[in-house]
Amino acid sequence: MENFGIARAPGLIVFGSGRRDALASVAAALGTRALVCTDGRFREDPMLRAMAEALRAAGIQTEVYDGTIAELPLECVEAATARARAFGPDVLVGLGGGSCIDLAKLVGVCLAHGEPLSQYYGEFRVPGPIMPVIAIPTTAGTGSEVTPVAVLADPDRAVKVGISSPHLIPAVALCDPELTLTCPPMLTAGSGADALTHAIEAFTTARSPAAADTPMGKVFVGKNLFSDMYARMAIRALAGNLARAVEDGRDVRAREQVMLGALTAGMAFAAAGTAAAHAIQYPVGALTHTAHGVGVAALLPYVMEFNRPACIEEFAQITSLFEAAGAPAGGGSPEQRAARAIDLVEDLFRRIGIPASLAQLGLPAGQCEEVAAQSLRASRLVRNNPRPLDPDSMNRIVASAHAGRREQLRETH
Ligand SMILES: NC(=O)c1ccc[n+]([C@@H]2O[C@H](COP(=O)([O-])OP(=O)(O)OC[C@H]3O[C@@H](n4cnc5c(N)ncnc54)[C@H](O)[C@@H]3O)[C@@H](O)[C@H]2O)c1
Repeated sequence: MENFGIARAPGLIVFGSGRRDALASVAAALGTRALVCTDGRFREDPMLRAMAEALRAAGIQTEVYDGTIAELPLECVEAATARARAFGPDVLVGLGGGSCIDLAKLVGVCLAHGEPLSQYYGEFRVPGPIMPVIAIPTTAGTGSEVTPVAVLADPDRAVKVGISSPHLIPAVALCDPELTLTCPPMLTAGSGADALTHAIEAFTTARSPAAADTPMGKVFVGKNLFSDMYARMAIRALAGNLARAVEDGRDVRAREQVMLGALTAGMAFAAAGTAAAHAIQYPVGALTHTAHGVGVAALLPYVMEFNRPACIEEFAQITSLFEAAGAPAGGGSPEQRAARAIDLVEDLFRRIGIPASLAQLGLPAGQCEEVAAQSLRASRLVRNNPRPLDPDSMNRIVASAHAGRREQLRETH
């Protein structure tokens, strides 16, 4: 079903350096009382504070919740929701990294449909529309500004949980690359690598047969026409600019391309979904307390190595995209070009300081089997993987990723 496509997106996407100046007019079209969900950086950063001032100057009653905690624990959503109930907003602004944007989405769910949030865990369980969210990313990575997902840490669950529903897609994504100029190198690297992982996993997910109930029955429908288009755009933008943005954070042109890469990678996985690197990161993140982006990126070369026999054409195209973005051109058969894609991704991640193994990420060797078993429980992500996964193959991927020995997976092709 190669001519099938689904795209879901915010009603309005505004992209460009300086375009945070559109916030007040965009918000005024949606409401008169705005709750800004952000984090402690808000108090220090004049660009962020100026945005709240612009809302107020436009006559929009504005309150700021700046208690967002990275990786989003449930208690933080509950605290922000209580604050929102007391204030009574009609528009929510998620201003910050993925954690702040996800918080705005989840406050929107609670205000519209009530708590506990656990009743919405999983797919298509949010019963209807939520309050409009304006998503303003200050990292270039998660793509949350355009996705139908929010992720949180519930202390009753061993791994982070997601709520996936088209109702969670923000009404507006306002993407101003200048807001990422303050990201330090490791944050730039981890969030940019998260975006490249989204793009590559979306570009290589399994295709599912399209059916009458696909659009309204599945949030993530697998690789399709539109996700491929966005994924290609993202891979090229990130391949050519992520290292530069990490090495010189003041390079606005590189920042623009990396933010464009994160946005388009979000558009790609918003419909196609992601696969094994994400399935494995959830337990790894829970056990090592490491950031999502760094974890999925550390895993990606191993997952690609396992998937290579099922993705020759796609991986060869990834090599072409890296070459178009400036990597030295190399010829070779489709198989050789597919193998090269993994080397190129691995080289880029090494250059920007992504840990090269799960051991480097801090996972004790004795926890590999537990990680593999937990990963298999993420059944949607496992089903989405282009090469079938079973307990044996999952154990092999985790073991080779732990040891930093990709060649162990090559031997089993
Ligand atoms: N909803 C989705 O589609 C989706 C997709 C992937 C990941 N996620 C989730 O997003 C979260 C991760 O988001 P993230 O990687 O953007 O980081 P984050 O929001 O967790 O923020 C990490 C840190 O970076 C700081 N920060 C943010 N912007 C900055 C800037 N411009 N300058 C300096 N510091 C800045 C924050 O203050 C915070 O301390 C995780 O909870 C992850 O599970 C969501």
